Amino acid sequence: MFITFEGIEGSGKSTVMAAVERALRAQGHELVVAREPGGTPAGDAIRDVALQHGGIAVHPLTELLLMNASRAQLVADVVRPALERGDVVLCDRYVHSSLAYQGYGRGVPLDLVRSVCDAATGGLMPDLTLLVDISYETSRARLAARGNGRDRLEREEEVFHRRVREGYLELASRDERVVRINGERSPSEVADAALSALSVIIA
Ligand code: ADP
Ligand code: TYD
Repeated sequence: MFITFEGIEGSGKSTVMAAVERALRAQGHELVVAREPGGTPAGDAIRDVALQHGGIAVHPLTELLLMNASRAQLVADVVRPALERGDVVLCDRYVHSSLAYQGYGRGVPLDLVRSVCDAATGGLMPDLTLLVDISYETSRARLAARGNGRDRLEREEEVFHRRVREGYLELASRDERVVRINGERSPSEVADAALSALSVIIA
C-alpha cells in the first residue's frame, strides 16, 4: 500500500502524516516513511539545488527534472523495495506535487509533467493520496508563525501559490484516488479525517 500526502506549504501534511504513522504502527503495520524532494543521499543533494535559498536561477523544466531525479532515486532505493516487502509506504509529496507546482504553478504542460513523472517512477502511482487543503491566507499565516527562512518556492508570488492550490483541487475533483481533507481544522480533526479516508483501503 502506497499513500502520499499533498498540499500547499504549511497545510499540515507532515503533522497529519506523523499521526497516521503512529496510528498504523499501533495497528501493527510495517511502515516506511519518506519525503520529497529528498529521502535518499542523492535526493537530499538534489533537494539542495532545487530548493536552495541562495538564488540560483532554475527554469521550470529544470525544476521538473530535478524533482523527478530525486523521485527516481527514491522509488528505486526506498519505495519499490518497501512495497515488494509488503510494507506500507507513506510519502510526504510525490507526483501530484509536480503536477500542482510545475504543471499548474509554473505552466509546464501537464502531459509533459506526466511523461517525466512516468519515466522517473516507472508508472508507480499511489493507492491513495490525501490532499490536505488550506487557503492561501492560512498557509501564509502558518509559515509566518513558523518563522524560519523561506526556500525558493516559498518566496514565489501569491498568484503562483493560488494556482498550485487550484491545481490540487482540480486533480482531486478528477481522480477518486485523490481525497481532499479540510486542513483548516484542528490537528486531531485532520488526523481523524485522514484515518477515516484510509480505513477504506487499509484494514
Ligand atoms: P507541511 O508539512 O504541509 O508544510 P506542517 O505539518 O509542517 O505542514 O505544518 C506547518 C505548520 O502548521 C506547523 O507549524 C504546524 O505545527 C502547524 N499546523 C499543522 N497542522 C495544523 C492544524 N491542523 N492547525 C493549525 N496549525 C497546524
Ligand atoms: P518542503 O520544505 O519539503 O515543503 P513542505 O514542508 O511544504 O512539504 O519543500 C518542498 C517544496 O518543493 C515545496 O515548495 C513543493 C516543492 N515541490 C515541487 O515543486 N515539485 C515536486 O515535485 C515536489 C516533490 C516538491
